[in-house]
Amino acid sequence: DVVGRPIIHLSALKQATGEAVYCDDVPLYENELYLALITSTKAHARILSVDVSAAERFPGVVCCLFANDVPGSNITGMRQDETVFADGQVTCVGHIIGAMVADTQLHAQRAAKAVKIQYEELKPVVTIQEAIIAKSFYEPIRTIQSGDLETGFKQADHVLEGEIHIGGQEHFYLETNVTLAVPRGEDGEMELFISSQSPSDSQSFVANALGVPANRVLVRVKRMGGGFGGKESRTTMLSTVVAVAANKLKRPVRCMLDRDEDMLITGGRHPFYGKYKVGFLQTGKVVALDVAFYSNAGNSMDLSLAIMERALFHMENSYCIPNVRGQGFLCRTNLPSNTAFRGFGGPQGMMVAENWITDVAHSLGRSAEEVRRLNLYSEGESTPYNQILHGLTLDRCWDECLSRSEYEQRRAAANLFNRQNRWTKRGLAIVPTKFGISFTATFLNQAGALVHIYRDGSVLLTHGGTEMGQGLHTKMVQVASRVLGIPCSKIYISETSTNTVANTSPTAASASSDLNGAAVHNACETLLKRLERYKTKDPKGSWEDWVKAAYLDRVNLSANGFYKTPDLGYSFDTNSGRVFNYYSYGVACSEVEIDCLTGAHKNLSTTIVMDVGHSLNPAIDIGQVEGGFMQGLGLFTLEELHYSPQGVLLTRGPGSYKIPAFGDIPTQLTVSLLRDAPNDKAIFASKAVGEPPLFLASSVFYAIKDAIRAARAGSGMTGPFRLDSPASAERIRNACCDQFTKL
Ligand code: MTE
Ligand code: MOS
Repeated sequence: DVVGRPIIHLSALKQATGEAVYCDDVPLYENELYLALITSTKAHARILSVDVSAAERFPGVVCCLFANDVPGSNITGMRQDETVFADGQVTCVGHIIGAMVADTQLHAQRAAKAVKIQYEELKPVVTIQEAIIAKSFYEPIRTIQSGDLETGFKQADHVLEGEIHIGGQEHFYLETNVTLAVPRGEDGEMELFISSQSPSDSQSFVANALGVPANRVLVRVKRMGGGFGGKESRTTMLSTVVAVAANKLKRPVRCMLDRDEDMLITGGRHPFYGKYKVGFLQTGKVVALDVAFYSNAGNSMDLSLAIMERALFHMENSYCIPNVRGQGFLCRTNLPSNTAFRGFGGPQGMMVAENWITDVAHSLGRSAEEVRRLNLYSEGESTPYNQILHGLTLDRCWDECLSRSEYEQRRAAANLFNRQNRWTKRGLAIVPTKFGISFTATFLNQAGALVHIYRDGSVLLTHGGTEMGQGLHTKMVQVASRVLGIPCSKIYISETSTNTVANTSPTAASASSDLNGAAVHNACETLLKRLERYKTKDPKGSWEDWVKAAYLDRVNLSANGFYKTPDLGYSFDTNSGRVFNYYSYGVACSEVEIDCLTGAHKNLSTTIVMDVGHSLNPAIDIGQVEGGFMQGLGLFTLEELHYSPQGVLLTRGPGSYKIPAFGDIPTQLTVSLLRDAPNDKAIFASKAVGEPPLFLASSVFYAIKDAIRAARAGSGMTGPFRLDSPASAERIRNACCDQFTKL
């Protein structure tokens, strides 16, 4: 039985050697053309004129496309508030205005640059602060409220206010957005190879733009070179354009974005600004919280509302707060639409929580870990959205993390170090996380599978999920292997496609192995039942014998499977109904050293204890924990997107935008999975793992803040202070700074 075994990711070796096939590795079609996007250089403007006369004379040019070349609807987007091509006005730098198609990539790109566009510039709204002043918000404004704020604040011994800004993040998947569209020559049929987390959305958006029914559009996804949420909805921007071009020219058309284009056009994680008032007792127990979240949604809604909702569903992180109000405002700005990114608003919501809990500790002059532990949820307590917590393992994760990290000894050693060093300081933080598993849009919690057994006994497995490196296909093969009782080597997954499993939800919300795993289980059970007779008749026979006997007996050896998560359905109106199927929990302890004069820091150690239930595959799960943690570490300590006041993105590549490198991995990084923690809510007692560990990287941020606190204490400064995310060298230096300017 392979379930629970640390088997190697099924395409790991191919990926390491370069043999693994990605979208742009699909061989060139003989008459294929290349497309380059024509995008806006202004954040907010009316288009006065577009002059293609010079560009069209460039070598290799075949044609230019604009809004009036869209045969179906030019209206698109998750909320139908976007266009395939800009129509009269542009609302961000990078807004797609048109496309240039030529014989080669170079020719297409050169000619696209030669298109002359005249704009009448309008005033852009770029930052959250600008949006707040201009009252530039999307509707609705979400609120979650429970308990009674007024009573809560009255009960409090102390009340404090604070704020934090959390910067955005570029997905930086290795493989940028890419689409190859191949017209099949009859009845409007179109085949697309896309690097997308959501083949079904790609299919329906393309069908809509082409003005054909969905049954003419086939979307195929073999694997992605990373998605991280960035390919959940935004891939359709490129795919619809490429499909429109292929449809018009009746020739295959391909486009893979360059890194700078991808960074410019496709949006990223929402920057958040959190402003709060928190009431607490002398003991450190928080009794009232009023928090407002503002996210920078950009120039369209996309998934921003659902992302804000998840932020609100995580606003208390792992702490039981009896009286709470959280409000979420979506800022409409002239940035490219921000979108899903690992954690989907959860990390931003929890980051604000960790900030006020730190403020509470600082204002009481206590250690943050003491205040965190005191406020931690207990079994059976209820969240602000009235979901009772069952099977809570937070306390177990916490205690195990404390002991594995040798927290007390580390703290004592850090204190000694800080007494002995004036300009370098060490800091520690232990931070919990609780991540809700389920799509908050209830209808998305469904999945399908289609399993074929061929006459030679080999099995072709398809399901609704896509592989983006997270190991989903490996886990699904493990599930099928256990149910069918055959080795993994007899089972193969080739790709995800809209003509095998229809109406799939995006591979997202970390729920894909739960959902698709149950659907695969369902399909395999059906097949197993059909084979039962032949096993009984020939108990000594092999799998191949039974399959052959069944085939000769005219048994259907194909089956589909389906699953929907039971008992979900929350309503904002009544603040009731289950939002999440269950939670994944984790705790991390990090230690850092900062240089107070330069603001540089070193990540000394991180110890993580993660509850992922009975892991389907510990090798993959530990990889997910490590990867999620490092991606979060980039978010909270390194990565910074810079925009000009006019809304022009200045950081468009690895030279100016720093993602974590080997040197940023904590010198000592240990990940352990909590033992004996079965989860009765998901396939084979497992739990979701993809996004939950990302937030644990905030332990590094708060360890930095703890070190800064030590630096400030050195010159008699106590009490809360502000540190925005990421904790860049400038911010660390400035937070230690007040004292130095005084010296
Ligand atoms: N891991 C890798 N290697 N590459 C990715 O793109 N995406 C993350 C996470 N882990 C990602 C990843 C995100 S955003 C999600 S929602 C989950 O994987 C999705 O996959 P799952 O539902 O199978 O966990
Ligand atoms: Mo993940 S952000 O839900 O694709």
